[in-house]
Amino acid sequence: ARVAVLLSGTGSLCAALLAATDDPGYPAEVVVVGSDREADGLAHARRRGIPTFTCPLAEHPDRGAWDRALAGALAGHDPELVVSAGFMKLVGPAVLDAFGGRLINTHPALLPAFPGAHAVRDALAAGVPVTGATVHLVDAGLDSGPVLAQREVAVHPGDDEARLHERIKQVERELLVETVAALVTPTGTAPRGTRKSDR
Ligand code: GRF
Repeated sequence: ARVAVLLSGTGSLCAALLAATDDPGYPAEVVVVGSDREADGLAHARRRGIPTFTCPLAEHPDRGAWDRALAGALAGHDPELVVSAGFMKLVGPAVLDAFGGRLINTHPALLPAFPGAHAVRDALAAGVPVTGATVHLVDAGLDSGPVLAQREVAVHPGDDEARLHERIKQVERELLVETVAALVTPTGTAPRGTRKSDR
């Protein structure tokens, strides 16, 4: 299956998905990686000869024009699934009309807990003993679409934001690779840890 990735930062989650696609048995291939900026993470695609694009908000007169440009840039590569992996912009109606229902996001918390751009910091501040990672369908809200998969991550005493976030990212990478494979495979069963029977 043809998968597009959107990122805004280092792209370690994208790198993990690309590594999974190196296995010819993995049921997806990354056909394009896009960003809202000249993000470091684009290098993971360029190194593999995978097309990339940048769609900076500042290059468009308003968010609507940016949203339409982003939808067009994605559509040009005919993806079956779009993965937001550390993409730090809310997409708008054009992207949602074109890819709603096949646009997923990974978030470093157990949604609906700790939505937004500072989920790890917020979980630490809240003093929770357990947080985690979530993969969900993207809707018009902020980290608010239907949850597809979640996995818990323990908070260790003395954790700071960076150390906890890295521990969460390790789980996010696994969860993303599993969820993408499940979504593009006809059985479409959710990965382990998400079914009631797994609890
Ligand atoms: C991930 O934790 C993602 O959930 C969050 O930002 C981080 C991106 O990490 N939105 P990377 O850029 O893939 O390393």
